[in-house]
Amino acid sequence: MNSMMSYYFIYPKGLASLGLAEIEHKLAWLSINDFQFIKLNAHGIEFECSSQTALTLQSYLKLPTRLLLRIHQSKVRDLPRLYKKILKINWKDWTAGNQIEWKVQSAQSRLIHSGKIQDSAQKAYQDYLKANPVAKKIATQFYSEQPLSVYLNLYQDQMQISLDLSGRRLDLRQEQLSHQFKAPLRRSLAAAMVFLTMRSLSNIRFHLYDPFCGSGTLLHEAETFFQITKRVFASQFIPFFEQTQIPTMSETPALPFLSYHGSDLNPIMKKFKKLDFFQMKDDGQSPKVMISNPPYQKRIRSSGLEVVNIMKKAKQLNFDYTGLILPIEDWQTFRQSLSPLVSQPISNGGINCEFRLYHLAKVC
Ligand SMILES: C[S@@+](CC[C@H](N)C(=O)[O-])C[C@H]1O[C@@H](n2cnc3c(N)ncnc32)[C@H](O)[C@@H]1O
Repeated sequence: MNSMMSYYFIYPKGLASLGLAEIEHKLAWLSINDFQFIKLNAHGIEFECSSQTALTLQSYLKLPTRLLLRIHQSKVRDLPRLYKKILKINWKDWTAGNQIEWKVQSAQSRLIHSGKIQDSAQKAYQDYLKANPVAKKIATQFYSEQPLSVYLNLYQDQMQISLDLSGRRLDLRQEQLSHQFKAPLRRSLAAAMVFLTMRSLSNIRFHLYDPFCGSGTLLHEAETFFQITKRVFASQFIPFFEQTQIPTMSETPALPFLSYHGSDLNPIMKKFKKLDFFQMKDDGQSPKVMISNPPYQKRIRSSGLEVVNIMKKAKQLNFDYTGLILPIEDWQTFRQSLSPLVSQPISNGGINCEFRLYHLAKVC
């Protein structure tokens, strides 16, 4: 059960190397010593480890979108061979007869027609189940309404088959912060902003502010950065992982945040203050850091919210550091001669943005 297998974390565009830094940051605390990094590409990180390590990381990491497990790899050039290879997979380990949703991708291969590939794969899976019927007890124990997503990738005739161990995207953590709020920041992106800030201000503890907090995603991700995500994962319906235990960490590393402050022009939750950022007064706390996701789509942004005005106001309020996520064009209107402490490209809802953290003593 604890043998090393090949796993892959998928990340939001451009965040895989930061994702590796998050893994490294959390490994020692989680007492993990069998994580073997294999490679990193634009979409994610390939690694080897035991099932316990993989599922523990899935529960404690905040940046990835999904965890996959590779269960098969072979060369195939025609459909009969593909059928035979898939029929030979020991599906009893991986499903209790649950439905499969095939995600087929093919490039530079002889087999290119994804519809035909999917039909052959599905037939092989069904024929396997006919030949190896699942005991009723097992079928009931692992029953899931949600189909198991299985990725079938063909590249240069090399077929890789991977199971999605996450189910819903990992940034959909259990608790919904607000059902009404229309433009929340994706949790994984908020966690990335928090992690970047924590890493670059590693020698200080500070009060954290988000004056455009909306539903409070950034503050919530900051508070829960080391907490386990308690929700259902697809791995819970996979017989192979039946015995895999995920440790609950009784102690979490100290966070650098001394307090959390959220405000917004139109706060949704009572715990946040109703306050126009430009009417804010210095509350005398020190040191203090603002990280925020101000409105930037032209449709909803009122004039006055340009980056230069936000930075000026932040400086008047005596913030020591300010980190904002804004479209690249907005940053181009800001002083180019100043170097940010951090600049991380982030695609936010398909808009090319950058998170930049500035030391305000050096600004304006
Ligand atoms: C993009 S949303 C922030 C979303 C937030 N990060 C979340 O995940 O829920 C921008 C927020 O800025 C608020 N806002 C706009 N102008 C403001 C101002 N002058 N002062 C304070 N908040 C403002 C809006 O009400 C909106 O909630």
